[in-house]
Amino acid sequence: MTAGAISLTLKIWRQNGPDAPGSFDTHNLSGLSPDMSFPEMLDILNERLTLAGKEPVAFDSDCREGICGSCGAAVDGIPHGPEHRGTLCQLHLRHFKDGQTVWIEPFRASAFPVIKDLIVDRSAFDRIIQTGGFVSVNTGSAPEANALPVSRNAAEQAMDAAACIGCGACVAACPNAAAMLFVSAKISQFALLPQGQAERKGRALAMVAAMDREGFGSCGNQRECERVCPKGIAIRSIARLNREYLAAAVGEE
Ligand code: FES
Repeated sequence: MTAGAISLTLKIWRQNGPDAPGSFDTHNLSGLSPDMSFPEMLDILNERLTLAGKEPVAFDSDCREGICGSCGAAVDGIPHGPEHRGTLCQLHLRHFKDGQTVWIEPFRASAFPVIKDLIVDRSAFDRIIQTGGFVSVNTGSAPEANALPVSRNAAEQAMDAAACIGCGACVAACPNAAAMLFVSAKISQFALLPQGQAERKGRALAMVAAMDREGFGSCGNQRECERVCPKGIAIRSIARLNREYLAAAVGEE
């Protein structure tokens, strides 16, 4: 057994599809290394379930390095888990006590229907991006680097916003299931840079309309989103989104 190994009781949400009823299954796992990541623990559980002829727990993960935004579940009620600022794949078992009971469930939001167990459909985010989360102007070949001066402050803020990986934790944490932190990050990364100016107004109007169409709620300044964002996107992005939207709606330059 690994030195310092711990045992956990897992209460995991199982649900066969969007309209199927769901419930929590209980699994006891022992001999877990504190250095193990959360998905690695689920891999071990799934190996045991498979060997026992049972259906493994469906969950998303890809890079397992906090980069892709694929992973996500609420652990003890908190998207990506408590006691750390990062994605679920960066949550390690050292954050849990030996013998602890851990509750694991999918991100909860009507705009993110459960596909199976811990996997939710986050394609609503893709549809919002499709309405304006891009720059479509033809820039030709790479321009001379100093032709478009960008202040250091604007560049830093744009890079901070561009760090959003679209994991959806902000939506799952928000009492209104608002997607405003996500949309504000995507709008900010363009609004702060010269390349984003040509489509700036249409982008703000279209992305906010898409956000509403997909059934996300509105920001109530609860700030739960920024507390769980693994990339540290700050709520001041939402203030920028509101300014961008208002300016576009009243036709300001
Ligand atoms: S699996 Fe890619 S961010 Fe977690």
